[in-house]
Amino acid sequence: GLKVATIGGGSSYTPELVEGFIKRYEELPVRELWLVDIEAGKEKLEIVGNLAKRMIEKAGLPMEVHLTLDRKAALKDADFVTTQFRVGQLDARAKDERIPLKHGVLGQETNGPGGLFKGLRTIPVILDIVKDMKELCPDAWLINFTNPAGMVTEAILRYTDHEKVVGLCNVPIGMEIGTAKLLDVDHSRIRIDFAGLNHMVYGLDVYLDGVSVKDRVIELLATPENSSFVKNIDGLGWEPEFIRALNALTCPYHLYYYKRNEMLEKELKNFKEGTTRAEVVKKLEAELFELYKDPNLSIKPPQLEERGGAYYSDAAVRLISSMYNDKRDIQPVNTKNNGSIASIPNDSAVEVSCVITKEGPKPIVNGDLPVAVRGLVQQIKSFERVGAEAAVTGNYDTALLAMTINPLVPSDKVGKVILDEMLEAHKEHLPQF
Ligand code: NAD
Ligand code: G6P
Ligand code: MN
Repeated sequence: GLKVATIGGGSSYTPELVEGFIKRYEELPVRELWLVDIEAGKEKLEIVGNLAKRMIEKAGLPMEVHLTLDRKAALKDADFVTTQFRVGQLDARAKDERIPLKHGVLGQETNGPGGLFKGLRTIPVILDIVKDMKELCPDAWLINFTNPAGMVTEAILRYTDHEKVVGLCNVPIGMEIGTAKLLDVDHSRIRIDFAGLNHMVYGLDVYLDGVSVKDRVIELLATPENSSFVKNIDGLGWEPEFIRALNALTCPYHLYYYKRNEMLEKELKNFKEGTTRAEVVKKLEAELFELYKDPNLSIKPPQLEERGGAYYSDAAVRLISSMYNDKRDIQPVNTKNNGSIASIPNDSAVEVSCVITKEGPKPIVNGDLPVAVRGLVQQIKSFERVGAEAAVTGNYDTALLAMTINPLVPSDKVGKVILDEMLEAHKEHLPQF
């Protein structure tokens, strides 16, 4: 049987993951699931961990759930390590969202200044986890879900010698399921050729039963309700002429770049009303944990679908199963480019369709990206690389560079004001600065 360690086990997403392991138990016999958290998350770990135990008991499976604050005990001899932690919890997210907005800049937890600071807080912790893995489970795969997943994967590839890492996001699978819904067909009939970066991924083509339906799907993306399918981003439809000319499927996060003014206006309105996403999620989370406490509850409650990470378990568990079973099916993940995208360095992280094998994901070769998207993808890759470097070195100038080259930051001066305020606000979680 397999041992899985999940870091950030107190996350409200844990029932999602557990449901996935239960569903696929026959092909992926997880015998031990270790949920790890820290002192600050002890109560959440206890509540959600007990729900996990009830779910497994109800399913009648011989899976042991261990709840612990001892990361080393959890990592010892693990086969797969999954990470879903949030350094500084939702209060830190609120700062990531609200400080940039105060200065008229988009406030989002994985894009712009917020994304940079989530990376600065997260990368030292993940590098520490990798160090522990080297010692305690050197052959285990690290499946990282912790955002900003692109920058975090980049940092692991660039600053450790642990090659067994895969970054994972629910957006690509969400694009497939969303497309299937638009066409009113079963998800299994849809395939998308994904290429780009995390939260900057494009569908270069889309097939229904192997036949391209790209033109049809692109027309459908022009309506507001179709431009975003994640709960954390409001859809604002694309100008039909623009999306047609772009000639690629967009992900919801593209709205922040190609509709910057309109998205900022929305965010500023939320900011003034005290309803940025962190505040909405705090409420949702409190409601979820109230439900989780109910000793009669032994399923994943449908209310969890109000979180942005829907389909996380499908994405995570199908990935782990394909690796474990050497299925060689195609799934979109974050991995080392290795020539998949010509205009991105070979040793950088990209989010692309890959063949999933026992030895890891093998990226499908895309060649060069279409000229219309190539520049923005390269720009975000530069941001991720410089951001990862700032996280590792704690160098102020490098952090300002990352901030300023981000396309959502209007100037070095505004960037510096935001940087200084955020360094101060987050200093408790930024020991490297
Ligand atoms: P959360 O605020 O519930 O945090 C999860 C847990 O992490 C908490 O219980 C917290 O105590 C714990 N934690 C904090 N620091 C830790 C550390 N150093 N070691 C171990 N545990 C620690 O967060 P959430 O909303 O469940 O999201 C968790 C993470 O998953 C976030 O980073 C989020 O961005 C990410 N996420 C990613 C995707 C994706 O598409 N990749 C989707 C959804 C969420
Ligand atoms: C999407 C993204 C995740 C992100 C989540 C936020 O699903 O892919 O990377 O973490 O939304 O959802 P939340 O409910 O926390 O706002
Ligand atoms: Mn994501």
